[in-house]
Amino acid sequence: MDQSDSKSDRFDFAKLAARDRYKLLIGSVVPRPIAWVTTVDAAGRPNAAPFSFFNCLSSDPAILALGVENHDDMRFKDTGHNIRVTEEFTVNIVDYANLHTMNTTAVNFPADVNEIEAAGLTMIPGEFVKCPQIAEAPIRFECKRHVTLNIGKSREIILGEVLAMHARSGLVNDRYHVDPVALDALGRMGGHGYCRSTETFDLATPSEPQWRAAQQPVPAPTPAE
Ligand SMILES: Cc1cc2nc3c(=O)[nH]c(=O)nc-3n(C[C@H](O)[C@H](O)[C@H](O)COP(=O)(O)O)c2cc1C
Repeated sequence: MDQSDSKSDRFDFAKLAARDRYKLLIGSVVPRPIAWVTTVDAAGRPNAAPFSFFNCLSSDPAILALGVENHDDMRFKDTGHNIRVTEEFTVNIVDYANLHTMNTTAVNFPADVNEIEAAGLTMIPGEFVKCPQIAEAPIRFECKRHVTLNIGKSREIILGEVLAMHARSGLVNDRYHVDPVALDALGRMGGHGYCRSTETFDLATPSEPQWRAAQQPVPAPTPAE
């Protein structure tokens, strides 16, 4: 770290260790949504794990993105491996009620362990893809792999197209608005931090005329002496 000016600290990413870049990024890009990803392997065995390098990047086509890294010894995580093999995944949204079950599915179990069962969760069969859905999750997106970007020797970004969304009854109104307080989604902060989506407020973006009308009148210039 050095100083770019008297009010800022500068971090030259080329000079930083990967771990320190990671800490700066995950502490600054917050809160991050969490994809609770369910997949199956070639034999149809289910797998679940959370990923907070995750977001919705497009709605037409409807694209969700996952950032999946390899294990330290370069082995693929089960999620990355399964999506390679089956080209399908389901993103379950994690709410506060599932904080601990989600965390159980992050444990580095062997590939043959079904994390959904280990966490005491209930599986619903997939309808558009073979991946099971987590019944306790308030929202589930069934996705087909769209494209995978290999962005480094140990990391890939997987884009998936949403084929269908399932939501707990009452979460979505007849204008397709999702109730953020009822959803109570978990967000990921830096380190081991989390936050909740229950403290929200609305702020519509004004049109330019609305914005101009809302400005304070410009004070008249002081007459010259
Ligand atoms: C909240 C949370 C977010 C996580 N985000 C990521 C992530 O974005 N990318 C990643 O590779 N691992 C992430 N992990 C770690 C994986 O969940 C963990 O490595 C898991 O064991 C992978 O399981 P799998 O081998 O069944 O795919 C995260 C863990 C937690 C608890």
